[in-house]
Amino acid sequence: MRIIIEENYNALSRKAAAIIAREITVKPTAVLGLATGSTPLGVYEELIKMHKKEGLDFSGVRTFNLDEYYGLNPEHPESYHTFMFKNFFEKVNVKRGNVSIPDGMVVDVDQFCTDYEKHIRDGGGIDLQLLGIGRDGHIGFNEPGSSLASRTRLKTLTEETVRDNARFFGRKGQVPHFAITMGVGTILEAKKLLMLASGENKAEAVRNAIEGPVSSQVTASALQLHPKVSVILDGPAASLLKRRDYYAYVEKMASQVQAEVET
Ligand code: GLP
Repeated sequence: MRIIIEENYNALSRKAAAIIAREITVKPTAVLGLATGSTPLGVYEELIKMHKKEGLDFSGVRTFNLDEYYGLNPEHPESYHTFMFKNFFEKVNVKRGNVSIPDGMVVDVDQFCTDYEKHIRDGGGIDLQLLGIGRDGHIGFNEPGSSLASRTRLKTLTEETVRDNARFFGRKGQVPHFAITMGVGTILEAKKLLMLASGENKAEAVRNAIEGPVSSQVTASALQLHPKVSVILDGPAASLLKRRDYYAYVEKMASQVQAEVET
């Protein structure tokens, strides 16, 4: 695992956007796994800037979102569909037909989930999956207890997640209690993973995910099983890591080696 600790949220967003931009530049038909939540907003803003100012081209890019609330219309102001279009897709040149987000209104959920997985496979698999982390250590909506081999399916949200998300809905009663989410097993099949966390309220989840045991109680800990993971944190999110000095040292050494290669 590569652990990158940035000074603040803006630096974290720039770093993550640079990693995604490199992926697209090297492979213009890259398949991106995308995430919602407040954490990746800065990354989307940076990518939009790169598209507008530097011509970063999304025309060949295919995207799959991690999750969607179950029971919300795509047009609902708090659906992840709306989030993605408003904050990203409408502002870059991703083709509408290249975008996939779970459908929160689907009736045959099992069939939909099987098809979603098939679309990912047919698209060649996800090259780079962007992830946030919930305060209970979840990725996507894989709440504690989700099997580390789980696939795309319907999940019941925990009370804590419902409470955390209430800030977007105005009232707790309006927050959906279910979501369709890629499973942990689905996420682990992406070729590369990029997880972001910002703020002190994520510090415990980050510590458990990176330095705790691999456990279905903290589904982000499954990232320890993946060979190509980068985690980008700001100082407060990294504050409970025991080995934070070592991670910073590794990054410093890596950039020195890189500088030597380039001179
Ligand atoms: C939701 C999403 C996750 C996200 C998490 C944290 O549960 N399904 O993908 O990582 O919220 O969101 P935030 O970045 O707003 O803290």
